[in-house]
Amino acid sequence: MTPKTLPPATPARTAAPRPTEILSAEHRVIEQVLVVLEKMSDRARTEGEVCLGSARDAIAFLRTFADKCHHGKEEARLFPAMERHGLPADAGPTAVMRAEHEMGREAVRRMDEAVVEHAKGDKSAASRFAYHAHGFVELLREHIAKEDQVLFPMADRMLPSAVQTELLADFETAEREEMGAGVHEEMLAVAERLTAKWGVTASEALAKAHACGCAHAGPAVRPAGTPLQKAR
Ligand SMILES: [Fe+2]
Ligand SMILES: [Fe+2]
Repeated sequence: MTPKTLPPATPARTAAPRPTEILSAEHRVIEQVLVVLEKMSDRARTEGEVCLGSARDAIAFLRTFADKCHHGKEEARLFPAMERHGLPADAGPTAVMRAEHEMGREAVRRMDEAVVEHAKGDKSAASRFAYHAHGFVELLREHIAKEDQVLFPMADRMLPSAVQTELLADFETAEREEMGAGVHEEMLAVAERLTAKWGVTASEALAKAHACGCAHAGPAVRPAGTPLQKAR
């Protein structure tokens, strides 16, 4: 793994990134799609219409990149490693994160239902789409902030370097064997298409992600107008 997958403003270095840096870089991509979803939700609420193509793309991205790829690495690899090194599996912070992943899956399922109903001509489905999309955006922004600010720094401190190296290799294996060749890049292209269509910039996504006023900055994101970086 080379540092090429980190966002561009990360200082150059020769050491491999930490597993949590890979995950935080993926957060930055997800946050940009959350802004797209927020704009789609606002339009659905005010105009009573769901942009079906964008909604289907966003749902595909959320299910494949945000859930299967990103949450998959957290649930199957990072969290178990933290639990082997002292965190309780059933009542600690990783349990809370898993529960929030489940809430997110349910919200995406509801969004998908609304899109299907809207495509069949049910105009009232636009408000249901807006409701679940808005809820998902709020949930995931808070979830990402908790991971970036609390859980990931905890992982950096508690996991020995050998374990972190193993996790990096596990992440690569997951991408190759569980996601399939090219799927990660395909999803980045979907995110790129959505952000271009809805005029979302990285700086806007970062500002909205941290509108709570927290000091967290996370890895730098792309400057406005530049392509999305590979997040792994
Ligand atoms: Fe998570
Ligand atoms: Fe995450």
